[in-house]
Amino acid sequence: MRFEACIFDLDGVIVDTARFHFMAWKRLADELGIPFTEHENERLKGVSRMASLEIILEYGTRKYTEAEKLAFAERKNNWYVEFISKMTPADILPGAPDLLKSLREKGIKTALGSASKNTPLILEKTGLLPLFDAVADGNSVSKAKPDPEVFLRAASMLRTDPGKCIVFEDAEAGVKAAHNAGMFCIGVGSKTILNEADEVIGSLSEINFEKLKSILEEAGYEKPF
Ligand code: BG6
Ligand code: MG
Repeated sequence: MRFEACIFDLDGVIVDTARFHFMAWKRLADELGIPFTEHENERLKGVSRMASLEIILEYGTRKYTEAEKLAFAERKNNWYVEFISKMTPADILPGAPDLLKSLREKGIKTALGSASKNTPLILEKTGLLPLFDAVADGNSVSKAKPDPEVFLRAASMLRTDPGKCIVFEDAEAGVKAAHNAGMFCIGVGSKTILNEADEVIGSLSEINFEKLKSILEEAGYEKPF
């Protein structure tokens, strides 16, 4: 099997937005009197906006109508958009631009596979769009990770077989989605949390094309060329 493309999750892998999601959800949870910490927040990573809200509400005691839930999600998103509107290229996580550039120089295609509907705004603020050959995001898919839809969509936009794609993910749900798509998955973050990933690195600054190649060759992939 050859590897031909790398698909990157956005929040927490390419940009430091996972903390903005947490801050905005925390504000909502505090208003609703629901206990919510970084620990519970781990379950929200990679999960769509409405599914995230449902998880938070599980920690409370009250039931809410669909209209109330939509209003809560909108409030959270408005706070989140306030944060990301102030983003600059300084919010790009270390190593991401270098890795993307070197992959493309070596002929490996790059794509984003994110659950977020705010992907276009983040790409605009950080100037990252030119580094991706394709963008699959929450605006183009309907099924949330761990469903593989967003990664399969990215592979099809790149015209690459799913089995030839490598996914970079910081969320448990994202690792599952990559595996459900039949893709090799490199976890970016904590080994304890991402224990289902095929390999785990602390951040993208720990990897380059050569290192990736050797990880993949060890896993039985052939050279891309
Ligand atoms: C994912 C984040 O990338 O996008 C989740 O990890 C978030 O925390 C999801 O809920 C949806 O994002 P948005 O921007 O559409 O609310
Ligand atoms: Mg993420």
